[in-house]
Amino acid sequence: MRVAIFASGSGTNLQAIIDSGIKTIDIVVVFSNKADAYAIERAKKHNIPVEVIDHKSFQDREDFDKAVIDRLEPYKIDLIVLAGYMRILSPIFIQAYKNKIINIHPALLPSFPGVNSGRQALEYGVKYTGVTVHFVDEGVDTGPIILQEVVKIEDSDNEESLLEKIHNIEHEIYPKAIELVSSGEVEIVGRRVLNKS
Ligand code: GAR
Repeated sequence: MRVAIFASGSGTNLQAIIDSGIKTIDIVVVFSNKADAYAIERAKKHNIPVEVIDHKSFQDREDFDKAVIDRLEPYKIDLIVLAGYMRILSPIFIQAYKNKIINIHPALLPSFPGVNSGRQALEYGVKYTGVTVHFVDEGVDTGPIILQEVVKIEDSDNEESLLEKIHNIEHEIYPKAIELVSSGEVEIVGRRVLNKS
């Protein structure tokens, strides 16, 4: 599958995906809305083409998303992997890539959607949080769940230590989820993502 990875930040998940060497994907482009995202440097080091469009130069979300769709068109993308892409996608974008966008979220959805999920989990006082990989639908962090993994919260944890544990799990399960999706092993049945075999 021809894959685009979208990232707005440091790109440790992008790095983990590159390093995992999944045979069923070809990362044909890394896209970012931020010219200074470290993810871009990571892509360049691996000779992966990079595209950047600054969302701040657009008046509304739809216009920005249309520009992204146009920019990606020549790459003939089969799967979009959001890896720390901190923009909500408009319905125009979701429809253009229906069931072809996946996201990683640093919590056990449906708990703690949105931003600062580690902080949300600590403030709520849950004893376990985790990581979710899901298909993206038109809601925020609401799409069918592909994989989840639990992270235990210790009394000694603070936001930084918790995020480090979450990141370590993310780097394990995102490549696994991408492999599942790109090898056609799963199907979406209602809200559930089921193994075909
Ligand atoms: C990851 O923890 C990812 O789960 C989170 O951003 C981080 C990106 O890290 N995504 C979200 O919070 C999406 N709502 P990275 O740039 O080092 O891969």
